[in-house]
Amino acid sequence: MDQIHQKLLIIDFGSQVTQLIARRLRELNVYCEIHPFQKITEQFLKNSEPQAIILSGGPASVIDEDSPRPPMALFKLGVPILGICYGQQVMMKCLGGSVERGHGTAEFGRAFVTKKCDIPFVDGWFDEGDEQVWMSHGDHVSAVAPGFEVFATSPNAPYAITADLSRKFYAVQFHPEVHHTPKGSKLFKNFIQQAGFNGDWTMGKYREQAIQAIKDQVGNQKVICGLSGGVDSSVAAVLIHEAIGDQLTCVFVDHGLLREKESDEVVKMFRDNYKMALIHADERDLFLGELDGQSDPETKRKLIGKLFIDVFQKHAAAVGGAKFLAQGTLYPDVIESVSFSGGPSVTIKSHHNVGGLPEKMGLKLVEPLRELFKDEVRTLGKELGLPSSFIGRHPFPGPGLAIRCPGEITHKKLDILRKADAVYIDQIRKHDLYDEIWQAFVVLLPVRTVGVMGDSRTYDYACALRAVTSTDGMTADYYPFTHEFLGETATRIINEVQGINRITYDITSKPPGTIEWE
Ligand code: XMP
Repeated sequence: MDQIHQKLLIIDFGSQVTQLIARRLRELNVYCEIHPFQKITEQFLKNSEPQAIILSGGPASVIDEDSPRPPMALFKLGVPILGICYGQQVMMKCLGGSVERGHGTAEFGRAFVTKKCDIPFVDGWFDEGDEQVWMSHGDHVSAVAPGFEVFATSPNAPYAITADLSRKFYAVQFHPEVHHTPKGSKLFKNFIQQAGFNGDWTMGKYREQAIQAIKDQVGNQKVICGLSGGVDSSVAAVLIHEAIGDQLTCVFVDHGLLREKESDEVVKMFRDNYKMALIHADERDLFLGELDGQSDPETKRKLIGKLFIDVFQKHAAAVGGAKFLAQGTLYPDVIESVSFSGGPSVTIKSHHNVGGLPEKMGLKLVEPLRELFKDEVRTLGKELGLPSSFIGRHPFPGPGLAIRCPGEITHKKLDILRKADAVYIDQIRKHDLYDEIWQAFVVLLPVRTVGVMGDSRTYDYACALRAVTSTDGMTADYYPFTHEFLGETATRIINEVQGINRITYDITSKPPGTIEWE
């Protein structure tokens, strides 16, 4: 999309929490982009035209000769710069200060910084004394670069907050982006104020710009969009529909692995509320037929991914001459993360997406959400009038119930799973817990156990309940339901769902577990 808003550039040196810097800035209505340090050349900086720059933390040590450095041209752009942790140290090293590694100077975890002197960058800090911050450093700055002064210290970081006020260069040893620096956002706010940002990044404005950009990209050509019923593809579809109306056709694939009433709800919502051209592809027999007898998780995932592409291709042909494929790709999926080893990361699971499709079909991609984080997509969804019940839906994976039914899948197992899941979600809603939970679902275990109901012996399936809290699905913690809730839910499932006689609750976090079981 054309750059019509102010931009802040975040240079990533490989910190685990670089994305949080972007989150804090977006919350302050500042548009920002994260790019890996390897990509930052003088030419890149010229083309990028940032209004300010932030240098992230990272695992390297500036004491090592081959540690990553930004080009010196960065410091001559005349724009405000904020260095965080490694970003502070690299700034000092480049500008003539020094960094040391020494005994008793490492700090990991909570620390308190003490003010030396007031400047606008620390407005709102130190009103009630020292401020809590989060530190994570082995090296420390031992002499600031010429032009810099020290404005706050901590026991093991004598240069906790430093700045060269004339050049508007700021550098901090701690991490203002993390939750454990409670007033970190205030520092970002002060920094962007110093840099002249006017908060022009709002979802209302984004909507207008995105609509124009879609019109410019697509012209009078046709677009197809795979609709899963999840928030991302739904928001992308509604946005594109607003831009090009009838030129858009959505394809919703029912693979027989959806939840109770899901297919009707999605189709009704898009056909009735939005009057969108929608192909409801009933492919239950195809998917369940091919999955018959398959029990290996990766085989199941890959098979489903391949069938999705086949089905999509078949139905897209019916639209006639589509030149574009729309996807709900989000910003976290497009950020190129810094890899110090240079090696590929291990594949934990083959996630299903339609990635292989555009090339095969000669389609170009329309990805109107690729600059947004998930919470921004939800805000945009609200802007577009999507009902809040839809926007707040828990994520649901492309392979659907197939990966919640470990081992072989049968119609009978899927029926039992659907019913149990519906009772569990009903319980969560009744107790008003749905919005507190990132994702909740039932897993039907490939195990039957002995029980007694009435005076009879039962030999039925066991199931596991899963509920997690998370901010992005990358890490997660199990939800601490009360024993009353768990007991009541177990009783309801056993009473209402024939085929289950034992309930367990999964208390594994991610890592070491994953959210889904397969
Ligand atoms: P895991 O199980 O990897 O899941 O911890 C993290 C998040 O991703 C969702 N998920 C998927 N979403 N296609 C999707 O669209 C997939 O193949 C897929 N596998 C997992 C999962 O539900 C959770 O939100």
